[in-house]
Amino acid sequence: MPMPEPHALEALAGRYLRVRAQTQRLAEPLSAEDACVQSMPDASPAKWHLAHTTWFFETFVLAAHVAGYEAFEPSFRMLFNSYYQQVGERHPRARRGMLTRPSLQQVQAYRDAVDERVLALLESMARGTRKRPEACRAVGDLVALGLQHEQQHQELLLTDAKHLLSCHPLWPAYMPAYAPPYAPAHMQPEDCAAAPDDAAPALSWLPVARGLHDIGHAGQGFAFDNEMPRHAVFLHGAEIASRPVSNREVLAFVRGGGYEQPQWWLAEGWDWREAQQLAHPWYWRKAGPAADAAWQEFSLHGAMPLDAARPVAHLSYYEADAYARWAGARLPTEAEWEAAMAPHWRHEPVDGEEGRYAASLHPRTMVDEAGEVQAGQVWEWTQSSYAAYPGFRVAEGAVGEYNGKFMVNQYVLRGGSCLTPAGHARATYRNFFPATARWQMTGLRLARDAH
Ligand SMILES: [Fe+2]
Repeated sequence: MPMPEPHALEALAGRYLRVRAQTQRLAEPLSAEDACVQSMPDASPAKWHLAHTTWFFETFVLAAHVAGYEAFEPSFRMLFNSYYQQVGERHPRARRGMLTRPSLQQVQAYRDAVDERVLALLESMARGTRKRPEACRAVGDLVALGLQHEQQHQELLLTDAKHLLSCHPLWPAYMPAYAPPYAPAHMQPEDCAAAPDDAAPALSWLPVARGLHDIGHAGQGFAFDNEMPRHAVFLHGAEIASRPVSNREVLAFVRGGGYEQPQWWLAEGWDWREAQQLAHPWYWRKAGPAADAAWQEFSLHGAMPLDAARPVAHLSYYEADAYARWAGARLPTEAEWEAAMAPHWRHEPVDGEEGRYAASLHPRTMVDEAGEVQAGQVWEWTQSSYAAYPGFRVAEGAVGEYNGKFMVNQYVLRGGSCLTPAGHARATYRNFFPATARWQMTGLRLARDAH
């Protein structure tokens, strides 16, 4: 293995500062009250996200690699451990909202202290790469993983805040308008305003050739263990839509009675829909009591008219699958998705971009995007169960609990969403959620067998 270069650790320190600062910026629109409440067991309070991402660096980097390290506060090891059995005791997930102590201010002090220590460690490692190359590589890899982990929590912080605010009767905005420092320089504030009720971009079908395809990550850039190893899969030939399904298309499903017709639904999905009495996607509501009242949807910018052209979001796997059947199509497999979409992927990581979001905090119509193939506004359900790739190996130690142990009863989603930090997702990226999950920015792209 090559020896880590000092400048690589210096670059990592710069990236560390940018990612950590971005988390702070995302938490700023939330009050201390907002940041403490847990609106449902799946969602975590913002304060917990701020502390847990810090806990990750303290536990896996500082405690493991600084001789004689003294914890910032020993009880945090248990309070902010999410699911790492090998680290020890954990506070129950569903009771994270009960953590009124430590205060948000104390959590900020925890972040500052850990930042200072991580940066000091990286600096000392950069000076000693020749003496201790193995330790330097280990620390560099763990800090890189911790930053990817923090970016995952940045998206969760937003989806969890969205759920929390949606529980308020006034549907308050997380941020009234899309504004710097969240927006890249070329974006204008009106991009977040309700767009005109245009048609979604025309849909075309991309061919997926019958035969062997290589999928999965290979090469130098960062990837999670669940994206590896790259391997061959045989595909029978398919076509995949050039864009995700739009609100207009799902509105036709709603108006056509799709939520009341069991023939479109998986048996388990129908039972779930019946139990929940669902009649439309989450965060949709009628603007008034009249039958012909306009539809609205809740966004991080507050209530807005349902924009027919935007990609539909917040569907469960069951709803996505039912819609696809109603539309005479099906969900793609993850291998079909990757084979079709990888050549069109335009979201490769760009160093220095961690501090911004790709577009808006609500899915955009993408009509102004160059090229015909559109992705990256909503995570797209695939019909593939989340499972290990052939040859998958779990990393040693507690950090090996990151992905592998969740490979049961979940489905893979591909593509990334408008809430995914810039440069975080890849064409090989495998997100995963249970079939009932709807609070994430989840939509779908249709596929069909080749003629
Ligand atoms: Fe985590």
